Amino acid sequence: MEQIGIGLAGLGTVGAGVFKHLEGNRLLITERLGFELNIRRIAVRTLDLVRSVYPPPGLLTSQWQEVIDDPSTNIAVELMGGVDVPYEFVMRALEARKVVVTGNKALLAQRGAEIFEKALQKDCPIFFEAAVAGGIPIIKSIREAFIGNHIESIHAILNGTSNYILTRMTEAGLDFPDALKEAQALGYAEADPTLDINGWDAAHKAIILASLAYGFWLKTDQIHVEGIERVTASDIRFAEGLGYRIKLVATIQATEKGSIDVRVGPTLVPKQHVLASVNGVFNALMVRGDIVGDALFYGRGAGQDATTSSVISDLAQAAIWIKSAGKVFGFTSHGLYGTCLPINEVSSGFYLRLVVVDEPGVLAQIASVLGSHQIGISSVIQPEGHVGDSIPIVLMIHNAKFGIMQAAVSRIQHLACVRAPSVLFWVL
Ligand code: HSE
Repeated sequence: MEQIGIGLAGLGTVGAGVFKHLEGNRLLITERLGFELNIRRIAVRTLDLVRSVYPPPGLLTSQWQEVIDDPSTNIAVELMGGVDVPYEFVMRALEARKVVVTGNKALLAQRGAEIFEKALQKDCPIFFEAAVAGGIPIIKSIREAFIGNHIESIHAILNGTSNYILTRMTEAGLDFPDALKEAQALGYAEADPTLDINGWDAAHKAIILASLAYGFWLKTDQIHVEGIERVTASDIRFAEGLGYRIKLVATIQATEKGSIDVRVGPTLVPKQHVLASVNGVFNALMVRGDIVGDALFYGRGAGQDATTSSVISDLAQAAIWIKSAGKVFGFTSHGLYGTCLPINEVSSGFYLRLVVVDEPGVLAQIASVLGSHQIGISSVIQPEGHVGDSIPIVLMIHNAKFGIMQAAVSRIQHLACVRAPSVLFWVL
């Protein structure tokens, strides 16, 4: 039986999953591929650690360079985490013309342009299905299944931890800190959940999707990113009353002007929209192509098994590429949309929550500021029965440019009647 040698860097959750499932499903994978995938070298940070899997000790090394330099490896798999060392690993592997597989979204979002340039220069592919939405095959779908489509838009829930927290706030009425504690206790949130909560995990994934859909790499400072920290239980209730669910949505869409609108933030999703019923740790993506129309993807965006499923699909694709000396499946610049729409130019409906004093004339002052910016109000809620001298007012705003909206909110914030920072969320 012909063999393909794999060098694996990282034996954490996903690395161990790859080891376990390549062994467990060896017969099936070999039958389907027509040759065997063999792990020949594994780099780990600490050699004598207690692990969930036990590869033969001869396979292990503490030097990641050996995974690439070993002549018996054809595929270099990066599952280490972080950015700097993985960048060195991937560049060295491409230099040596070893096909790269990685699940590292931060690496691709921050250094993708250089990595893919190197891949093209060396005519050596890089596969990264596990980098976006765990087990959902969205990379292969955009790159291959939708190859004939202009991608008009992608709206996606890409962070399971945030989605779990928002779901618990919606279903159990929990406040953000309690829902986060629960997510951590259940092992959904990372020990340091910063990137999950502040929107950057989803933003890294959005940058990768945008590069595939529109043919160029966005810089991390070009996109507007907001996390779920400012979503309160009362926002969830107000949204509910208005017919929406609050989700952390990544929006990636072409605009009529030829630039793309890419952003991540809390978004009011109409209850009848499919994304509104994506709950718990699940991820989902709604892709709209000009030929295919709407296509929905749903599944586990994190966790050992789901992510491993994607890594194994990349290993199979990498192996087929090696056997058939195929074309580079990588980033292909097509230059259709070369610019990112500045966030201030993005038009959307908005949810605006203010905390104001309960006095005559307050609503009129707020409406006057919005009116002077040509911003239309579609509905207003001021709940009855509030105790104390401050009350929340929620305004649903007709489509307006974000820049104008922010200017108006900043003026409203300076009114003497406003008692706390305002909250502004997108409406889908
Ligand atoms: N921590 C991520 C999530 C998974 O909660 O979805 C890995 O990107």
